[in-house]
Amino acid sequence: MFAHAAPQRSRVNRRLVEAARSVPGVELVDLYDTYPDFYIDVAAEQDQLADAGTLVLLHPIQWYGMPALLKEWVDMVLVPGWAYGAGGTALQGKGLWLVTSTGSPAEAYAPGAAHGYPFEAFLPPYRQIAALCGMDWIDPHILHAAHQSSEAALDAHVDAFVARLTALASA
Ligand SMILES: Cc1cc2nc3c(=O)[nH]c(=O)nc-3n(C[C@H](O)[C@H](O)[C@H](O)COP(=O)(O)O)c2cc1C
Repeated sequence: MFAHAAPQRSRVNRRLVEAARSVPGVELVDLYDTYPDFYIDVAAEQDQLADAGTLVLLHPIQWYGMPALLKEWVDMVLVPGWAYGAGGTALQGKGLWLVTSTGSPAEAYAPGAAHGYPFEAFLPPYRQIAALCGMDWIDPHILHAAHQSSEAALDAHVDAFVARLTALASA
């Protein structure tokens, strides 16, 4: 699930999504491209997700969380009776993998620094979406200082992403 409101200006996530396109077994949904009007086809999204082994959320961090259209997707698609609650078993046993990037460096995520908390402190909503839906939390793949990181660091980040994605897609 790729969510970037301005992919033409992306340095990191665009590289990752391009790489994902060539991994066998990956079904890519480019949310902002598919639903520019924010009107999500819930039945289609649920059908596709029901067939998947892992849900990958690929997006830049925006205001400590996910972009607006991905939040809308979560609101509309992960509904009670389907994703959780009575009869809501569609996602049980699937993996949830967050692949994300921040503009700020890791050091900015600390008490007394710009963002006040360790980056991990912003992840409970994601972790709890997984927990509530009976999904397995997969260690997130994160690149901090997205604009400053070297080309070599970005290449390594993309390579590690492809390796993990390939393993997940073939599991
Ligand atoms: C609306 C908006 C909100 C953002 N909020 C944060 C934030 O909370 N923390 C942070 O470190 N970076 C924040 N950023 C920076 C992005 O995370 C950063 O530009 C992105 O990860 C770079 O990836 P890209 O090259 O794929 O666009 C924000 C950017 C935008 C546009």
